[in-house]
Amino acid sequence: MSEDAAIGIHDLSFATAQFVLTHATLAAENGYDVAKYHAGIGQRSMSVPAADEDIVTMAAAAAAPVVARHGADRIRTVVFATETSVDQAKAAGIHVHSLLGLPSATRVVELKQACYAATAALQFAIGLVHRDRAQQVLVIASDVSKYELGSPGEATQGAAAVAMLVSADPALVRIEDPSGVYTADIMDFWRPNYRTTALVDGRESVSAYLQAVEGTWKDYTEQGGRALGEFGAFCYHQPFTKMAYKAHRHLLQHCGHNTGAGEIARFIGHTTTYNTEIGNSYTASMYLGLASLLDNADDLTGQAVGFLSYGSGSVAEFFAGTVVPGYRAHLRSEVHRAAIARRQDIDYAKYRELHERSFPADGADHPVERETAGPYRLAGLSGHKRIYEPR
Ligand code: COA
Repeated sequence: MSEDAAIGIHDLSFATAQFVLTHATLAAENGYDVAKYHAGIGQRSMSVPAADEDIVTMAAAAAAPVVARHGADRIRTVVFATETSVDQAKAAGIHVHSLLGLPSATRVVELKQACYAATAALQFAIGLVHRDRAQQVLVIASDVSKYELGSPGEATQGAAAVAMLVSADPALVRIEDPSGVYTADIMDFWRPNYRTTALVDGRESVSAYLQAVEGTWKDYTEQGGRALGEFGAFCYHQPFTKMAYKAHRHLLQHCGHNTGAGEIARFIGHTTTYNTEIGNSYTASMYLGLASLLDNADDLTGQAVGFLSYGSGSVAEFFAGTVVPGYRAHLRSEVHRAAIARRQDIDYAKYRELHERSFPADGADHPVERETAGPYRLAGLSGHKRIYEPR
């Protein structure tokens, strides 16, 4: 792609939840050796939303600094990717649009396909900018990952939102053609409309993910993509950070490359720093990995990054991006680290209380206590309507 035609990620910001549960606390409660979590799945803690936080409050907190920096004049589209939506009809992005005071001349839509949807949102955004290079698209990925208490998935919960401004002449990462895409009808992870927690066949999901790595790479190669050796880093969807290691080892093996542990860590190590502490954030997870890479790696200018986005069910996409000269001046590294550091440690009892919480479905007024220190909060439910407010 010529530099004149470049479209990609112009700004990137994330937010996470008020509370954090460490895996040491979880292990002490359920009797597992904590090494299973720290070394076995590569997780040390998970973000837990306060009672007055959800995908909307995290999304607005992630997007507000992006809008503050660039203004809203050129944003004509907001695409909100999530698999833990708060409503079956209304797009969660409309609440964000309202909280951020975006212009009425905006289209807002929600996308779903498990953890993959933010990549669909990014590609659709690129298509819109390609049609009119003056426009920008606000892509938001926000999720609260929730499994049953005591289930194998419990240790892979988490919560975060990533906001990305997609524009022509991006300041951070140019997204390239082609993509390698892959779809397979598999029930490895799903959540029927009547359930608040996901159902997952953990082993099946790991092998479905690895199958998708091969499938996307095959298509990417057939579409004329880069050779494996051209990439300086790889950013994988991370349901737990060990999965990124498994996936990259699988890709290297598949391509007949060296799979030494040091070699793998060199290419993906920096993408796992934030996810290790935040846990699975579903749609946001891979883009949190990108934030972690940009914030924590040495200068990546001009390097190609390979992205592998996987969403159970399943849909996956492999694509490349090139890191833009001068990108470091536009990062939000200190704010990102502070968002992780400022979370309040909670004990198992508080975690359990938050996990089991749900709104009565009676349509009455249900105000929510003030807990979050974030900029936006869920004030309550009234007449079946969620009420949001600046804190
Ligand atoms: N010290 C070090 N490692 C240990 C350990 C210990 N004491 N005990 C276990 N481990 C390792 C295991 O060897 C295993 O590693 P491996 O996968 O490299 O073999 C890892 O820790 C996990 O142990 P396992 O017994 O397989 O865990 P589990 O049955 O509780 O489930 C998942 C693991 C991933 C299946 C489960 O967390 C899950 O269902 N997650 C949700 C779904 C998901 O994230 N899917 C991913 C694709 S989207």
